[in-house]
Amino acid sequence: MNIYQKCVEAADYIRQYADGSGAIGIILGSGLGSLAVEVEDAAIISYKDIPHFPMTNVIGHAGRMVIGKLNGIKVICMQGRFHFYEGYDMKIVSMPVRVMKLLGIRSLIVTNAAGGVNRTFDEGTLMVIEDFINFMGDNPLTGPNIEEFGPRFPDMTLALDKDYQKLAFETAEELNIALRKGVYMAYRGPNYETPAEIHFSEVIGADAVGMSTVPEILVARHANIPTIGISCITNMAAGITGEELNHLEVEAVAKRVTNEFKSLIKLLITKM
Ligand code: HPA
Repeated sequence: MNIYQKCVEAADYIRQYADGSGAIGIILGSGLGSLAVEVEDAAIISYKDIPHFPMTNVIGHAGRMVIGKLNGIKVICMQGRFHFYEGYDMKIVSMPVRVMKLLGIRSLIVTNAAGGVNRTFDEGTLMVIEDFINFMGDNPLTGPNIEEFGPRFPDMTLALDKDYQKLAFETAEELNIALRKGVYMAYRGPNYETPAEIHFSEVIGADAVGMSTVPEILVARHANIPTIGISCITNMAAGITGEELNHLEVEAVAKRVTNEFKSLIKLLITKM
């Protein structure tokens, strides 16, 4: 069965429980999943029940889809995502975006925890992803093009919606939340980068590094879904301060800024 058919079956299954048409899709990264708890009139669907979805078992990822209303706006929240470093094919990693497309989402918000490369960032900085560098060594759009979703050679100039970025800055200002912007560079993981790799990232123009999100942005652009990405800088990347990195600390920082992050998203969606 090809990936398109798998997405159709997954979407057909989800549609039995909730209508996602016209919703905003939101993919919640490490430590940011608690936004899903605030969704009202929620239909909650466990990834393990969705046909062709793999199981997630990364610490800090719940693995469920929550469809309902957030601040009066229809949303599909993905609480937990699939990572390339878990060993899944890129087409599986990015499959939820395509399933949400079939469910009828009108826009997408992708979020993640990331390491800060830009030396003017700090732990807890929120960064709008202005552009990205795919350094994962793979791409979910390889293989026969799935015409049902989009064209063979999708443009990436406008992969991240400029109007949404403007709205995010307006929203942040209204809420008195500091918001930065920058280039997100995705590594395969699962190890945190070496200091030499981070030096390389800095030189080539990255502001933040992580191990996710790029596959999702690629398929979203392919399927013409207007998308905004927001990174939570949970730590300065390897070698910048000389401190060692660990996942628990990454999660702890994400949790610390989660309230700011949640208010930003909750107001932003009312403007999108
Ligand atoms: N590197 C890669 N991914 C990350 C980091 C990091 O420093 N912090 C959170 N996710």
